[in-house]
Parts: sequence; structure tokens; C-alpha cells
Amino acid sequence: MLILSVESTCDETAVAVTENGRRVLTDQIFSQADLHAIYGGVVPEIASRSHVEVISQLAERAIRDAGVERRDLDAVAVSYAPGLIGAVLVGVNFAKSAAMALRLPLIPVHHVRGHIAANYIAFPELEPPFLCLAISGGNTLLVDVQDYTRLRILGQTRDDAAGECFDKSARVLGLPYPGGAPIDALAREGRDDRYALPRPYVGENPYDMSFSGLKTAVINIAHHCEQTGEELDRAGLAASLCRAVSDSLVPRTMAAARELGYGKVAVAGGVAANSRIRADFTAACQESGDALFVPPMRLCGDNAAMIGCQGYYEYLAGHTAGTDLNAYANMSLS
Ligand code: KG4
Repeated sequence: MLILSVESTCDETAVAVTENGRRVLTDQIFSQADLHAIYGGVVPEIASRSHVEVISQLAERAIRDAGVERRDLDAVAVSYAPGLIGAVLVGVNFAKSAAMALRLPLIPVHHVRGHIAANYIAFPELEPPFLCLAISGGNTLLVDVQDYTRLRILGQTRDDAAGECFDKSARVLGLPYPGGAPIDALAREGRDDRYALPRPYVGENPYDMSFSGLKTAVINIAHHCEQTGEELDRAGLAASLCRAVSDSLVPRTMAAARELGYGKVAVAGGVAANSRIRADFTAACQESGDALFVPPMRLCGDNAAMIGCQGYYEYLAGHTAGTDLNAYANMSLS
């Protein structure tokens, strides 16, 4: 089954062609990061307008690059929630028009389900059930993946996503947007015990997380140095931050892994690219005996192949949409 898939929930426009879920024929990605860099974050209207500009050409290129004809396609899948609403609307409207024009079924895909499915592309042997930590710029979720389309949220952030904590902290460290990768690089030159940062514990659910206090603590340290003239150890603060974020994520995930007992732990989303988090998961899974799945960098960030992959399983489960499909800024994945 050949699926044309579309992703436009934030600042990447992407169109892919996948076969039977896991085989990627092409994955075309246009990143808008340069357009937003001078603002230090994604500007929603600029994001929407850029999606409009490039999405048709990207689709043309995807079909050409996959070596298929339009008539070979079997369905159109689209990331319809959650995300910046103006941005998501562009992809949804394009996918609806394509499905209508080509007389194909339309498959709505939750963006975070897509991130989790990136693991199916990277690891052909991986099958549910498994535990997945989905960590991106807008979402931080601990998910019990019981089946391809039956997912249960075990815990989530109560405020900022882990990626947002990196992106906002990067600003006060004088690093460009998106800040996760530059913080990761800077952290390699610093000591991770240089600054004392909080490890928030949130209320009654031990699997819930919080990152806004951590972000504020980093900003306060930087401002304190600015005001007192004390020299800021930027690399030390970056390393201390990576350690603190990892300390919030890895032990919680491993506790959930013990509770579920699947023996399989997966990580997904842009923040999964972080080297400290990867190293800590590798060590924790070596100790626990769980198999660890972390997709390669190019599949961690936003892409359309992951939407096509999850779309295949949604289609098999009978999840298709009509021409009244809407876009949503927020939506639970379960
Ligand atoms: O999954 P993604 O591309 O987009 C969303 O769906 O949000 O994730 C982007 C996030 C950004 O916050 C970015 O700073 C973060 O992933 N990121 C990283 C690293 N590379 C990207 N965070 C920490 N360390 C990295 N190496």
C-alpha cells in the first residue's frame, strides 16, 4: 500500500511516500528554522505562510523522487493535531484536496503517534507492546504503546515540553534557535555538576513531569551573573541543564518500564537527539536488561515518513476521515 503523507504542524514542511508503513520511498523535508532564527522561536504566521509556499512543490518532488505515478498512490495521510493551528491547517487542507482530486482515502494521524512510529521505520523488528518516551519541542509524554493504534498516556509534562526548556534556556546562553542541539554541543565542554538545578516532582502521578521551573532556574542564574558581573560558566550551565533534563526523564521512564515489564523502551521526538539523554538511557537499559530503541537523528525531528508509517496502521484499524476533517491545536493521543 502506497501512502502520500503530509506533515506541517510546526516549522518543517514535509511530504513522504511510504510503502506498507515501514518502507520509505522518499521523505522530503523543508526546514523553516532559518526563517525563525532571528526571532529566537517559531513565529506562527511566518510558519503558515512558508508551508503554503512550499507544500505543493514538495509533494510534486516527493512523487517524482519516489519513482511512482499519482495513480499508483493508495491513500493520503496527514498530521492533523496537535500543533500551531495555522500551520496544521495548511497540511490538512492540502491533504484533503489531494485525496479528493485523486479519489483516495484520507487518513488523519496524531503528530505524536507519528513520532512514536519513527521507531517502526528505524527498527523493522520492533512491534508493540512497548514503552515510549516522546520528547519534542511541544510535547513530553510517557506512553504505553499497547498496540499500533491503542496507546495509553502514563505521564506527561504539566507545563513546558522538554524541548521548549532547551529552546528558552538557549536564548539566555546566547545560542541560536532551535537551542537543543547547540546546548548539547556546548554541554560537552562543561561540568554537569557546575550549577545546582531543580529536579521537579509533580503531585500524585509519579510519571508526570515539569520543566518550567528548570527553565526559570537557568534564566535566573544567567540574569544573576549579568547583574552582579559574575562570570557565567556557559558550558557548565549547559551541561548541568542536560543532566537535569535527563534526570527528569530517564529514571521515570525506567520505573514505568519496570512496572509494565515489556522489556522494550523506545524514545521519540527531536529531544531524543540529545547525547546526554541517549547515553543515560543506554546505561539504564544495559543495567535493567531492557532493549532500547532510539531512532537515528534524521527520524527524531519532524518528518512525513513517520506520518505515512503510522497512517498505514491507522488505515488497517479503519481510521479514515471524510472531507470535513479539521485541524486541531490540541488533542490527546489516546
Ligand atoms: O520533534 P521536533 O523536531 O519538533 C516538534 O515536534 O516539536 O523537536 C524539536 C525540538 C526542539 O525543541 C529542539 O531544540 C530539540 O528538539 N532538539 C534537541 C536536540 N536536537 C533537537 N534537544 C536537545 N538536544 C538535542 N541534541
